[in-house]
Amino acid sequence: MSVEVEHVELRAARRADAVAVAEIWYRGWCDGHLGNVPDALVAVRTRESFSERVPRRLADTTVAVVGGEVAGFVMVVDDEVEQVYVAERHRGVGVAVVLLEEAERLVAAGGHRQAWLAVVPGNARARRFYERNGWTDQGPFEQFAPRDQGQVTVPAHRYVKRLADEAQRHSTRRPAEKSRPRRPE
Ligand SMILES: CC(C)(COP(=O)(O)OP(=O)(O)OC[C@H]1O[C@@H](n2cnc3c(N)ncnc32)[C@H](O)[C@@H]1OP(=O)(O)O)[C@@H](O)C(=O)NCCC(=O)NCCS
Repeated sequence: MSVEVEHVELRAARRADAVAVAEIWYRGWCDGHLGNVPDALVAVRTRESFSERVPRRLADTTVAVVGGEVAGFVMVVDDEVEQVYVAERHRGVGVAVVLLEEAERLVAAGGHRQAWLAVVPGNARARRFYERNGWTDQGPFEQFAPRDQGQVTVPAHRYVKRLADEAQRHSTRRPAEKSRPRRPE
């Protein structure tokens, strides 16, 4: 697919981004997960639950800014690309790939040679996006999502990608990307 790549600025998330990140996360979660995950998980993934989680997760979050507004974000923890979310009106134009490449760079900068992520089987758009960007489906596994009382078992697929050396990634970085050092955990 040929896409118009929007001008994307990448930067570490700030406290002032929390509301925008929570809204993109909640709406995107609904798009990718409703009908694709157990009802018990839907019951705890309320709009408020995302607003509560975001402030605790800002240190792991990189946002993509387009035209002065937060258009999407990624969260990276160790070798896991935990979240990749783009606001609906910025999908299909290349914002997501800039974020995914930054997430891969952060994993590689942390000394890992392989990144992984989880995606639910019915999230066809995300799976297609990962596969188009060089990620490999390693098959199904059970993810355990915590909730107040116990946890919810969520069938998911594990995707992995081998990462180039960090030095090589720097020399091949696309101009749309803006680098920043990895923040301490
Ligand atoms: C996943 C996400 C980040 C991808 O970003 P994007 O800008 O939508 O990605 P792209 O449009 O570049 O790529 C999506 C691919 O899926 C295809 N696609 C679109 N809708 C689809 C559908 N319903 N079923 C299957 N494929 C679909 C697109 O055509 C494209 O493939 P192509 O490049 O071969 O044409 C974004 O869709 C999003 O934020 N989704 C909601 C949140 C989410 O599910 N995040 C991932 C959690 S694991």
